[in-house]
Amino acid sequence: MPQWSETLMDNYGTPALTITNGQGATVTDSEGRVHIDLLAGIAVNSLGYGHPAIVEAVSKQVANFAHVSNLFQSEPVLNLGASLIERFARGNVELAGETRVFFCNSGAEANEAAFKLARLTGKRRILAAEHGFHGRTMGSLALTGQPDKRKAFEPMPSGVEFYPYGDVDYLRKLVGINPTDVAAIILEPIQGETGVIPAPEGFLQAVREICDEVGALFIVDEVQTGVARTGDFFAHQHEGVVPDVVTMAKGLGGGLPIGACLAHGAAAKLFTPGSHGTTFGGNPVSCAAGNAVLSVIDDDFCVEVTRKGSEFAAQITQIAQVEHVRGRGLMLGVVLKGEWAKQAVAKGADYGLILNAPSTSVLRLTPPLVITDEELAEATKRLASLLADVEKEA
Ligand SMILES: Cc1ncc(COP(=O)(O)O)c(C=O)c1O
Repeated sequence: MPQWSETLMDNYGTPALTITNGQGATVTDSEGRVHIDLLAGIAVNSLGYGHPAIVEAVSKQVANFAHVSNLFQSEPVLNLGASLIERFARGNVELAGETRVFFCNSGAEANEAAFKLARLTGKRRILAAEHGFHGRTMGSLALTGQPDKRKAFEPMPSGVEFYPYGDVDYLRKLVGINPTDVAAIILEPIQGETGVIPAPEGFLQAVREICDEVGALFIVDEVQTGVARTGDFFAHQHEGVVPDVVTMAKGLGGGLPIGACLAHGAAAKLFTPGSHGTTFGGNPVSCAAGNAVLSVIDDDFCVEVTRKGSEFAAQITQIAQVEHVRGRGLMLGVVLKGEWAKQAVAKGADYGLILNAPSTSVLRLTPPLVITDEELAEATKRLASLLADVEKEA
């Protein structure tokens, strides 16, 4: 196999492990070690590895046609669009009737689409949350509330202002500076990349109200939280709000690249022929995978995600080195009592665990949603001995 460092640009650093196989919620590395995967390709492999529904749907579609472009209609694309509208509207026929989908290939592109919708309102201001993450393309980076990620790429697309996540008073004051020029307010229902930080209770409702008061679009970035990751199909549904625009990606394709931007009402009519597009967006193979994912993720499946997540969180909370666990469903942030998270990730492989650390004291756990109770119990045991050893060595 060619050397990573002699082949690929250095934007990721060089990964320590080479994965050779995946099965269910486990992966095998090139040394033959089997790991319980508590990351799932960064919250992507919703049905784990080799799920028969995805294998069958993708194999059939690729054998038929892999791509036709958006100059033609095809069934997998329309079926997935209709299913997403159904999941979004949840039986509200009127809402479903005025919701439309734009398909793309990634979370960043879904947020680019949302950004462009906001521009098409004719208003200039877009308010985004501090420490939020929306992607690495120039538009989605401009929405990302992390100056260290933006700095080297400035100047950014203009018009984006930042508010402290969860601070309703601050947001109201910021909006009040020029309320008629606010095109949109964007947020993640749970900030993922920042360390699995849920919005304070009632915050999404407050943002909905503010958007209604000034006629701004409420954009919810569900790229990481969507597709049942938090136990509801969309995390915003837990808060009982209906956003104007929802972006999604990651878990939707179960491992195949796809993103989507849903909008309803006036926002759904802002794109007109020629105003936006992508060659691969809504690729039939990715859409076939998406249809397979949605065929498995029904209401009962969501209930199971909630149950498994809360039991897993309760087990992990018992570990001596754990301060507390936050998040919902199978999107958990494990806050450690010390700065051991990066070491835990590096040593995880020796304990048969795939882990991720968004900061020095937080582990992010986003296992495949199909992970079993036995695997979660075993993962907890392994995590306990890993963290005990990491603490000793610190
Ligand atoms: C909330 C959120 N938005 C957007 C993105 C960007 O998605 P992608 O990496 O598919 O471009 C991510 C990726 O982690 C994310 O977590």
